[in-house]
Amino acid sequence: MMLVSGGIARAQDGLPDPLVSTDGTKITSAKEWKEKRRPELLEFFAREMYGQSPGVPEKMSFEEFDRDREALDGKATRIQIAIYPGGKPGPRIDLLIYVPNGVEGPVPAFLGLNFWGNHAIHKDPGIRLTESWVENNHQPYVDLKGVDANRATDETRGVNASQWPVEMILSRGYAVATMYREDVAPDHEPYFGSGVPPLYPELQRGEGNWGTIAIWAWSLSRALDVLENEPLIDARRVAAFGFSRLGKAALWAGANDERFALTISNESGAGGAKLFHRGVGEDIQRLNSLFPHWFSRKFRAYIGKDKELPFDQHLMISCIAPRPVYVASAIEDRNADPEGEFEGLKAAEGVFELLGAKGLPAERWPEVDVSVQGGIGYHVRAGRHDVTDFDWEQYLKFSDKHLKGK
Ligand code: GCU
Repeated sequence: MMLVSGGIARAQDGLPDPLVSTDGTKITSAKEWKEKRRPELLEFFAREMYGQSPGVPEKMSFEEFDRDREALDGKATRIQIAIYPGGKPGPRIDLLIYVPNGVEGPVPAFLGLNFWGNHAIHKDPGIRLTESWVENNHQPYVDLKGVDANRATDETRGVNASQWPVEMILSRGYAVATMYREDVAPDHEPYFGSGVPPLYPELQRGEGNWGTIAIWAWSLSRALDVLENEPLIDARRVAAFGFSRLGKAALWAGANDERFALTISNESGAGGAKLFHRGVGEDIQRLNSLFPHWFSRKFRAYIGKDKELPFDQHLMISCIAPRPVYVASAIEDRNADPEGEFEGLKAAEGVFELLGAKGLPAERWPEVDVSVQGGIGYHVRAGRHDVTDFDWEQYLKFSDKHLKGK
């Protein structure tokens, strides 16, 4: 059945019910969810789709190399920490943090990976330029003409700033923490050739290999390990945030790591919040052919079967429950199937309610530019695939409700 009628996808529409276990048992209590169903689902997604992630690496170390209490005209304390997941020397991930000054701490924070380098999220000349590979050009989304032979240069400082309204977030009392996706794992060929993957050769073998989306998700957890050591930040109030492929990673991080107090997916689409069952937008075939490194090779077994999958993304989202989750779509982002992202949430709602959280207070796909917020939040914004101030306004409002005063 096509679920494009404006109707809401529910178990009766051919989607597996999050509250029925693989062995047919109906899940009726929080205890059964926690002990039986959630572990079963996480195990399923790791095995069939994202790949198995390791725990905290034994040799991981980190080194603060910058702390400027007068950054951004005195508005923030800028902290930069080099994370060495395999110990030093070895692959290095820079974690950039801005903490608002003049606010009573420790403060809640948004933690997310960025697309174009830490230095691209703000013009601040104090941000260390990444030494990792950078795409030479990516018009029309971002002007990377200043990148020279795949190396970051001063010219690309701040080119991605419109998606990271740092001052606006700080003014609301939140810290911002970010890392560059390519520091963590390459998103270009040779896939798995740099960053974290070479530390785990055994996880690259076979069909059930550790895919890049899961590696990025894992890096968010490692950054949270580091934030737990930063007294200016309240690590119990950290939101995992991500846009697009990095939104897929944020959801998988939020699903697995219960330390994330909140999860935000900005237009994560296929392999993120959208349901494959609808057969709308990017499908499993496209995902795996354009981005063969993102998911475990095992996921390719489902190519062509989008509408008959024995699972779908609502089951992954439900693993975030009862912690709040916000999913945002953009109306022109057809690839991500905006309505399918809404339906992905709606189909997970029963789990949130079983666990005592509020669901998503919308019976139908909301009007454009209307944010609906309960224990689950959603909006579809006007315009294209992007992150805008409108999106951040909604995340701040949702976070105020769930993280402030906690
Ligand atoms: C491509 C891909 C999407 C992804 C997006 C992005 O468009 O098909 O799945 O979300 O890239 O990360 O920008």
